[in-house]
Amino acid sequence: MTIPIGLVHLLKHLPPKLAPSLVTYVALPYGLRLLYPTHVSGLIILLASIIASPLYLIISTLYTNFSNRNAAAANGAVMPPYIEASWGGVSTIKAFVNNLKNGYPGDIFIEWCEKYGNTFSMTIFSQNGIFTTEPQYIKAILATQFDDFEKGPITFSQMGTLLGTGVFNSDGDRWKFHRSMTRPFFSKDRISDFDVFGRHADDALTQTKARLAAGYPIDFQDMVSRFTLDSATEFLFGQDVRSLSAGLPYPSSSPLSITSSNDSHPANVFATAFTEGQNVTSLRQRYGINWPLFEWNDRVLPHKTIVNRFVDPIISAAIAKHKARVAVGDVAESKEVQEEETLLDYLVKITQDHQTLQDEILNIMIAGRDTTACTLTFAVYMLAENPHVLKRVREEILEVVGPSRQPTHDDLRGMKYLRAFINETLRLYPAVPFNARASRHATLLPAKAPGQKPFYIPPMTTAVYSVFLMHRRTDLWGSDALKFDPDRFLDDRVEYITKNPFIFLPFNGGPRICLGQQFAYHESSFFLIRLLQRFSDFKLAPDVQPSWSKPPADWAKCPGAKGKEKVIPGAHLTMYVKGGLWLRMEEAKNAEST
Ligand code: HEM
Ligand SMILES: *[C@@H]1O[C@H](CO)[C@@H](O)[C@H](O)[C@H]1NC(C)=O
Ligand SMILES: *[C@@H]1O[C@H](CO)[C@@H](O)[C@H](O)[C@H]1NC(C)=O
Ligand SMILES: *[C@@H]1O[C@H](CO)[C@@H](O)[C@H](O)[C@H]1NC(C)=O
Ligand SMILES: *[C@@H]1O[C@H](CO)[C@@H](O)[C@H](O)[C@H]1NC(C)=O
Repeated sequence: MTIPIGLVHLLKHLPPKLAPSLVTYVALPYGLRLLYPTHVSGLIILLASIIASPLYLIISTLYTNFSNRNAAAANGAVMPPYIEASWGGVSTIKAFVNNLKNGYPGDIFIEWCEKYGNTFSMTIFSQNGIFTTEPQYIKAILATQFDDFEKGPITFSQMGTLLGTGVFNSDGDRWKFHRSMTRPFFSKDRISDFDVFGRHADDALTQTKARLAAGYPIDFQDMVSRFTLDSATEFLFGQDVRSLSAGLPYPSSSPLSITSSNDSHPANVFATAFTEGQNVTSLRQRYGINWPLFEWNDRVLPHKTIVNRFVDPIISAAIAKHKARVAVGDVAESKEVQEEETLLDYLVKITQDHQTLQDEILNIMIAGRDTTACTLTFAVYMLAENPHVLKRVREEILEVVGPSRQPTHDDLRGMKYLRAFINETLRLYPAVPFNARASRHATLLPAKAPGQKPFYIPPMTTAVYSVFLMHRRTDLWGSDALKFDPDRFLDDRVEYITKNPFIFLPFNGGPRICLGQQFAYHESSFFLIRLLQRFSDFKLAPDVQPSWSKPPADWAKCPGAKGKEKVIPGAHLTMYVKGGLWLRMEEAKNAEST
């Protein structure tokens, strides 16, 4: 039997919190006896002991607040304004979780931004936090003051079940070790080989065509997630989970939805566990430092166990193969990345530690799979919503690549509009909409303008930042910021970005910038080209979109992107479309028949 993580958390954190009551209970009788030697009421001692701990908590919170303000002043700085919150921040957690479950991404922060400005402080259970959408501060957090911020112990504890200590979930030397171990694999040559994408894209699109021909819409998000999962697993371990072989789902309104869905198919079991593990992990982030109390038993672990069941034998086999090679003296092999090596083949030459390999591979799978699926899903949503954009993307594809051939790395380089289209998708729907770091020590975020004061950031402050909201700010992107328009990356408006590159951060910035950025552009471009060679029109299928996943009527009154939304964007670790993206697609007349 395993001890519930909620209990472990309580045993670790409750005793220090209860210490004031204990001390009062033991010490107060002595003090009182000195003052009133005759009668000491047991009731008074009991009451005093009970209130001692909450009282101490309140006083220490006030004191921290006070001393932070003093420290800020001593540095010629101020604290970012505090949002109003009740019950020590319980109301803030409730607002987060409610927004995550029912709202539009970031709505809760927009309300606060309008009230307090683009940077503000939050206190939850005496844990200090700030939130910002300010490019200058995000740049400081990620790049110019990289050494002042880290992922930190709270993030580690939240992500630990899923990610272990891989590149995504480590700091300092451990992070450097993982990053430098993995980086050579993402060299230009290695990621310019499109064969893996080619096979899985063909499989996905052939199935799509058949399903449409049978008269059913398809869930594009599901289809493309299978494509990215099969591509990623083959690319990383040389053995794919064959999630496409489990077939595409039918709309829930169709009787076939139940009879043909196969929850016990190993690929579906794996994919569900992988998604659910991330879903539960994202809730931990909303609950903050005391997340174990909300879970009690580790709710990610069962999903992680299923994921491990698939990857463990593959890793063990790779280690065994490596050891066998070394045993027969075949150690001449170079530590450099070889041409047809998978990431696992390459990593096993550097370390044979099972846990390290497992963490690293799964980190990269999580980093690369859903992010790319998300980008492709929102890209096609935007194609369905913006026919003039669809027309131009297709024209460029037919001109540069033609109607049937696979694109090459050189083709992609010339396709400016396609790249701008992907960028515009990443701007309005960045796959990682919210992110966080923690301050390692007290630090300052520089004043925004001459005459203003810097912000003081106390030690161990959680710094949450949102590129999703930053990418939508009209003061940074112009009055048409909420419009989907790829031309903004090609015409004069590109100046907004060249003047201030940190306003566009879909891949993060600084030393921890996404390792797979080029890989992601390649994979997305490749799939979009293959898709648009075969299909010329995309229509949302609201008749089969589950009704719970349609935007509430009052959204239509909202300005900008939210008011136009036909689906509900959700945000767990990455963005996704709630209920799936159901589409009807028209086959291109000049398409190669497959
Ligand atoms: C459109 C697709 C993608 C987007 C939007 C994206 C975005 C990001 C972002 C925002 C981060 C920073 C996370 C953080 O520091 O908290 C990141 C990190 C990372 N990404 Fe990507 N990513 C994408 C695709 C990929 C792919 C395909 C791979 C690999 C195959 C990949 C590998 C990584 C790795 C290894 C890191 C960790 C870097 C580090 O901490 O040093 N990403 N990505
Ligand atoms: C800290 O002090 C500020 C005033 O400077 C106040 O607005 C805020 O509510 C206080 N926060 C807490 C958690 O006491
Ligand atoms: C579901 O998948 C499993 C494993 O591939 C297979 O044995 C079973 O026949 C499938 N069931 C249906 C209803 O397709
Ligand atoms: C995520 O988890 C929540 C709560 O555990 C659950 O209600 C929801 O259906 C899950 N969402 C997805 C997309 O799996
Ligand atoms: C797309 O964005 C990237 C930055 O992530 C930039 O380097 C590139 O020039 C942009 N391309 C176009 C065509 O907008």
